[in-house]
Amino acid sequence: MKIAVAGTGYVGLSVAVLLAQHNEVFAVDIIPEKVQLLNKNTSPIVDKEITSFLDKNASGERPLSFTATLDMEEAYAGAEFVVIATPTNYDPKKNYFDTSSVEDAIRAVRKVNKTGWIVVKSTVPVGYTNGVRKEFNDDHIIFSPEFLRESTALYDNLHPTRIVVGAPQDDTEAVAAARKFAHLLDEGAAPEEHTRTNRDGSTGIQQLIVGCTEAEAIKLFANTYLALRVAYFNELDTYAEVRGLDTSAIIDGVGMDPRIGSHYNDPSFGYGGYCLPKDSKQLLANYNEVPQNLIAAIVESNRTRKDFIAEEALRLVEGIDNPVIGVYRLTMKRGSDNFRQSSIQGVMKRIKAKGITVLVYEPTLDAPDFFGSEVTHDLDDFKKRCNLILANRWNTELSDASNKVYTRDLQKDVA
Ligand SMILES: NC(=O)c1ccc[n+]([C@@H]2O[C@H](COP(=O)([O-])OP(=O)(O)OC[C@H]3O[C@@H](n4cnc5c(N)ncnc54)[C@H](O)[C@@H]3O)[C@@H](O)[C@H]2O)c1
Repeated sequence: MKIAVAGTGYVGLSVAVLLAQHNEVFAVDIIPEKVQLLNKNTSPIVDKEITSFLDKNASGERPLSFTATLDMEEAYAGAEFVVIATPTNYDPKKNYFDTSSVEDAIRAVRKVNKTGWIVVKSTVPVGYTNGVRKEFNDDHIIFSPEFLRESTALYDNLHPTRIVVGAPQDDTEAVAAARKFAHLLDEGAAPEEHTRTNRDGSTGIQQLIVGCTEAEAIKLFANTYLALRVAYFNELDTYAEVRGLDTSAIIDGVGMDPRIGSHYNDPSFGYGGYCLPKDSKQLLANYNEVPQNLIAAIVESNRTRKDFIAEEALRLVEGIDNPVIGVYRLTMKRGSDNFRQSSIQGVMKRIKAKGITVLVYEPTLDAPDFFGSEVTHDLDDFKKRCNLILANRWNTELSDASNKVYTRDLQKDVA
């Protein structure tokens, strides 16, 4: 089956590789460098599984039928499914996602392909898919939320927690297309997932075919819950730090309740990354005229946490003449090459607003400065020049400067 994917970022590329194991996949991007890299079997993003598949393709083993292209007509014409995985950045002026790239992709598909099923995989506002179906007078558009994590993008599609596809429940053709798309995702998953036993006793990957709007809500509520959990443990840590208590002991004891669990509870400088900040804000915008307290509090809590971390950092350099505060990595998490909306940037802004010099150590950033702050790749020099080093995530390479490091990361033994 011919399938096209619009966008070769974390979502588009991982879905394209997953589907290319059993289908002929054309992946489209508007950035020539990305397309060139992919056609040389090089991944433009850091992702172990994607790299491994592309390496096998290069070595002649060819597990994938995969072509990257700038030519939309070549990709979209004749495709039975076109997956859209283009960006939906949060527009602070409109207080809503900017979905224009999704609409651009829909228009480009329909120029050459009138009836192929368009599956929106970008994260969109609640109610969006039904809106574009109406606006474009097109009943061949459905929605499937993506749950992957950056840095394990393809892994998460090979081992999915669940497969959700949204289609109008009273449209039998759309529901059949949703089931077929769910099957394609299931088929691409790792073989062991087809025999796994789920908590409810069922076997295989759980699939949910629901209305488009419910599917959109599933995505935003899931990410906002994750943001809530991060914010909760961060506020616990703020409390412990202000009251002089041992955060680790409290979190251990709280997590022993299996309803809470001892996972996803490591304090940080705030939730960040491409999705949680924007998706929680979009959900808050969707609550317009619906009573709520919690969703607004989650968004607010993240700001308060960054204020707190910045104030702590400033307190620690008080009394030092012309202090230099170091930022150890701009990235959001370990193993990631991405620093979109990382929380350390919010902390940095707050510190710089007080006139303090910030020096950044970020080996993946090939630029002399980052928003006016010097960037260095020399870790030893960085350690010497900084009076204080902020590390959202600890790394053992900081061990010999640990007396200068400020982190709230409890997993100090994890590099
Ligand atoms: N990154 C994540 O962890 C993640 C997880 C789940 C959902 N999402 C959602 O998926 C969407 C994509 O996220 P991402 O992280 O993959 O983005 P990304 O920025 O990594 O990749 C998007 C790609 O789309 C390309 N593009 C833009 N306009 C295009 C067009 N008209 N035609 C073809 N290509 C075009 C861009 O050049 C870019 O390469 C967003 O809506 C995001 O919220 C992301």
